[in-house]
Amino acid sequence: MPDWVELERRCLACQKCALADTRTNVVFGKGPKNARIMFVGEGPGENEDLQGEPFVGRGGQLLDEMLSLIGLSREKNFYITNIVKCRPPKNRDPLNTEQDACIGYLREQMELLRPRVVVCLGRIAAMRIIKPDYRITREHGQWVERDGVSYTAIYHPAALLRDPSKKPDTFADLRAIRAKLREVCPEVYG
Ligand code: URA
Ligand code: SF4
Repeated sequence: MPDWVELERRCLACQKCALADTRTNVVFGKGPKNARIMFVGEGPGENEDLQGEPFVGRGGQLLDEMLSLIGLSREKNFYITNIVKCRPPKNRDPLNTEQDACIGYLREQMELLRPRVVVCLGRIAAMRIIKPDYRITREHGQWVERDGVSYTAIYHPAALLRDPSKKPDTFADLRAIRAKLREVCPEVYG
């Protein structure tokens, strides 16, 4: 996969925005390059910055547990990354200027992966990928079809840790994601 190698090499050396000055590691993304489903968060947190991998903290563990319930794992069948690849200081939201600087990497990742389903994790990713005025509380779990790709958003795992009463909604959204995968790319479930 020479294109992936080249893209990751460029991203790991990137200095296009000020987040380069405070990062420990660039967090490029993780998962099989033939995955049909992609998850996109907003940006690395502290653990991700230290380890160079997306969603490896407490929220990431919760996410992996929930996704395993619908037969998904980052080892086998989903790809996971973020809007910005370097950690915003103190986990603040990534600025629009930082998102603008970084979004090209995500676009290239999507062009290489060609996912059938894209799931935004939380409001920030949904506002960037689905629409600028996305309302996560009202619109999570709804589907948008664009150029043969199905897009949706679910609550960010950090939001589920803060407010577990949101979990039943997320489990319903996950069942809908499983149904969508069975419809558009049944090979995911053999
Ligand atoms: N939150 C995110 O949005 N992304 C990560 O990789 C970790 C936490
Ligand atoms: Fe480059 Fe993105 Fe990191 Fe900014 S956040 S330095 S654009 S990789």
